[in-house]
Amino acid sequence: MRWALLCPLVLVACTSPVEVPHCEEPALSVGTATVSWHREVRPIIFGRCSTCHVEGGHAPFALTGYPEAAAYAPAIRDAVLHKRMPPWQPASCCNQFADNFGLSDPQIELIVRWIDQGAEEGDRDRPAPPLPPVGGLSRVDLELTMPVGYRPQPKPGHVDDYRCFLLDWPEEQPVVVSGLNPVPGARPIVHHLIVTALDPDEAEAVAGEVAEDGRPGLPCEGGLGEFASGQVLGGSLIGGDFPDGIGARIEPGSKILLNVHYSVTDLAPPEDRTTIQFRLEPGDTPLLEVKPMVLANPAWLVGGAMTVKAGEVRTYAHRVDPRLQTLGKRTLLRGLTPHMHYLAQGMIVTLLRDDGTRTCLLDVPRWEFGWEQPYWFTTPIPLEPGDELQVQCTFDNTAANQPVIGGVKGAPRDIAWGSENQDMCAAFLAFTEVEE
Ligand code: HEC
Repeated sequence: MRWALLCPLVLVACTSPVEVPHCEEPALSVGTATVSWHREVRPIIFGRCSTCHVEGGHAPFALTGYPEAAAYAPAIRDAVLHKRMPPWQPASCCNQFADNFGLSDPQIELIVRWIDQGAEEGDRDRPAPPLPPVGGLSRVDLELTMPVGYRPQPKPGHVDDYRCFLLDWPEEQPVVVSGLNPVPGARPIVHHLIVTALDPDEAEAVAGEVAEDGRPGLPCEGGLGEFASGQVLGGSLIGGDFPDGIGARIEPGSKILLNVHYSVTDLAPPEDRTTIQFRLEPGDTPLLEVKPMVLANPAWLVGGAMTVKAGEVRTYAHRVDPRLQTLGKRTLLRGLTPHMHYLAQGMIVTLLRDDGTRTCLLDVPRWEFGWEQPYWFTTPIPLEPGDELQVQCTFDNTAANQPVIGGVKGAPRDIAWGSENQDMCAAFLAFTEVEE
């Protein structure tokens, strides 16, 4: 493995990264007692899969009854065992997050055991209710809807169209967002989305690019990487209240950037007008204001220093003293959004303590660009003087890992940092300041 030990001169405190292995996920040991569909498996499938796997939803098939679960049993077994589904990316051996809609190991074990025992319906008596839903807003104070409808137009041979829309922020006083929930307009084509707040200056700059190609919104193939100064507020289709006591302050004149990932197989897709519901608190509420901190090496952006040659598997890491961004104030880390593209394989974000110990903040062992979203820590993590933060990304540019476009797997080619058809390695952290 080759390392890029590039530190930009401006970051005085930048030290050499250390290689961090992925955390160890426990091996699954499958029991032998008989599992019941109605009492044990159905509650998990109905509670954790049917939100998306529903008639008219975006997922490729419904999972709303026993016949579908039985028909798709082999695919379900493989998807839950390899943790592709539900699309929750962080490994639970690293850190715990709010609104975790992934499956626990005991839940995976039950599904796998049920399928291995023949995926039978069994006794219909006393079916257990579905698991309680994850997320959801406790209150809706504001709803913002895309000003005009958008009909996705993937490039020829593609199924994905990543499009950004600017929504005016109507509040005339500063307010604090304490939760949000996306409501897709055209459910069959909205794969997932990310919501970011842009301050008035950046909002104005982005507004200049809207409709340049004659269509609503603007293309944003590279996703979040292009709007690095924005505050990531939420993502995925499963929204909810932020963890207790935190919120993001939005100034009048800001705009909401809605970054929608459309996935379209139909030649005549419907128009989408997605809505975002917000929970708000007054601007003077003593909520702890979440601030953004970007963890990426500026030399990768400007120096073309992050390259992955065709055929190569390569890891890049960057380690930095967070005081340059926290301005030396006492802070708590609250969450983060990993950002990479298609060739990325995994990301590890680590807190390196002065005494040599490490705290794992996020470990994504199997990255899927299509499911990028922010993750809030269940327990805030204090930054101590002397702590450093490291982001580590591994890219697989071998023939086996090329994206499939129009049913054809591309050939590897050299890539560097960039938006379209290139890759990125950044963690957008959210922190709060501790009252002294
Ligand atoms: C957030 C929405 C969402 C949830 C929750 C979800 N799925 Fe999916 N699922 C999808 C989408 C969309 C696809 C299409 C492939 C893709 O975009 O990744 C898919 C694809 C699949 C596939 C076929 C592709 C593969 O990777 O094997 C299986 C099987 C599957 N889901 C099973 C499940 C099961 C079982 C659950 C619950 C334990 C679940 N899904 C929860 C949205 C979801």
